[in-house]
Amino acid sequence: MLVNKLLTTLFLFTVTTLWAVHAAPPTSYDDARWDPIHFSPAIESATNEQCLACHREIMEATPLEQSPAGVARSDVLAWYQTISLYAGEQETFHRRHLETPLAKELMNLQCNTCHQGHNPREEAPIPPTDSAAYTLRKSVDPDTCLLCHGQFNAPIMGVPGSWQEFGHLFQNDCMICHAAIRTTRHQVNYLHDEAIEQAAKENPETCYSCHGGRSWYRIPYPYPRNEWPGMTPAPEWAKDRPTQSQSRFLR
Ligand code: HEC
Ligand code: HEC
Ligand code: HEC
Ligand code: HEC
Ligand code: HEC
Repeated sequence: MLVNKLLTTLFLFTVTTLWAVHAAPPTSYDDARWDPIHFSPAIESATNEQCLACHREIMEATPLEQSPAGVARSDVLAWYQTISLYAGEQETFHRRHLETPLAKELMNLQCNTCHQGHNPREEAPIPPTDSAAYTLRKSVDPDTCLLCHGQFNAPIMGVPGSWQEFGHLFQNDCMICHAAIRTTRHQVNYLHDEAIEQAAKENPETCYSCHGGRSWYRIPYPYPRNEWPGMTPAPEWAKDRPTQSQSRFLR
């Protein structure tokens, strides 16, 4: 009996010690900087809470009250901030994607949707290969941004030109066509698909806000063509398109 008890105690002691050592917070700046959570595979399953335990400033920082030249932040609006969905005071980049009401309503972005790894020496999320060389020394793969900040791909849609100029031909409403075309959309872990459709009913500009309204790029994103009811065969331009969203985005 006594031996049994001793053994149990010893066992529990070992387990708790090992667990404590494993879960102990890093004790130096360098340990934290090189914390395995920054690298694959740990980063793939990391939660926002785990990242924010060390990076709380990401959610708390605010833009300067005024620029170094003295322009108050409340006095400036960039072109992309004149879109009707833009609301509230100037906010930081991270808060606009994670914390502001619009971000929470339409999106479900996680730290690791954008940060696929962080190597303090190289910054590149992916080891440089021929195809990924472009991302070298960028913290985040710019392809991820392109998903929501690409051009409106008018030519493939039969829209004669830019949406600003020709949208009125379609009552400025994408749903004129998209009630029936490519209806299996946004079934990914970083978007709230139903909320997006709902928001578009209230404000048709919702769709444009991610498909041209804030295009930092001169190219459109080559979206996968997820099968939809009544799907038409792939047109010539879509022959090489995947038929499913990227695997890391599947729900
Ligand atoms: C144990 C604490 C800790 C955790 C947890 C942690 N980090 Fe870090 N991270 C650091 C430290 C320390 C640095 C170096 C900061 C510096 O030099 O400014 C750093 C650097 C970074 C950088 C580069 C910052 C820069 O200024 O270039 C990014 C991006 C980053 N971490 C993202 C993440 C993400 C995403 C997660 C969650 C998957 C995460 N970190 C989890 C401590 C942590
Ligand atoms: C929409 C994509 C996106 C999301 C979501 C995102 N980040 Fe970032 N983050 C970026 C980009 C882009 C940069 C700037 C990278 C560069 O300078 O190369 C950045 C920079 C950083 C830095 C460096 C310090 C700074 O302020 O520039 C840290 C730390 C960081 N992110 C942590 C996080 C954490 C923690 C989360 C989750 C709570 C998160 N990020 C979510 C895109 C994102
Ligand atoms: C899932 C869609 C999505 C992804 C991915 C995304 N963004 Fe955004 N981004 C948005 C939306 C929506 C807004 C508008 C937020 C608002 O107006 O409240 C926005 C706004 C912005 C703004 C303007 C912020 C402001 O204060 O006006 C910048 C800059 C930006 N994004 C850069 C990026 C970069 C860089 C990346 C890649 C690291 C990225 N975005 C990835 C959806 C996305
Ligand atoms: C005149 C009809 C029409 C209108 C109006 C229209 N689209 Fe399209 N859209 C299409 C067609 C056709 C396709 C391609 C269908 C296919 O894949 O076979 C398409 C494809 C797309 C794609 C996928 C592009 C790709 O590269 O795979 C997106 C995103 C899109 N539309 C968004 C929008 C948004 C946002 C609006 C409103 C701002 C809009 N569309 C207005 C007809 C239209
Ligand atoms: C918050 C940003 C955002 C909004 C708002 C938005 N989209 Fe998208 N859309 C995306 C992203 C990101 C993808 C790519 C999803 C993936 O990873 O497959 C996408 C994909 C699509 C596709 C390609 C679907 C496929 O897989 O074949 C179409 C079509 C489309 N969107 C139309 C629309 C329409 C119509 C609206 C308005 C009802 C709209 N989008 C609103 C971000 C957005």
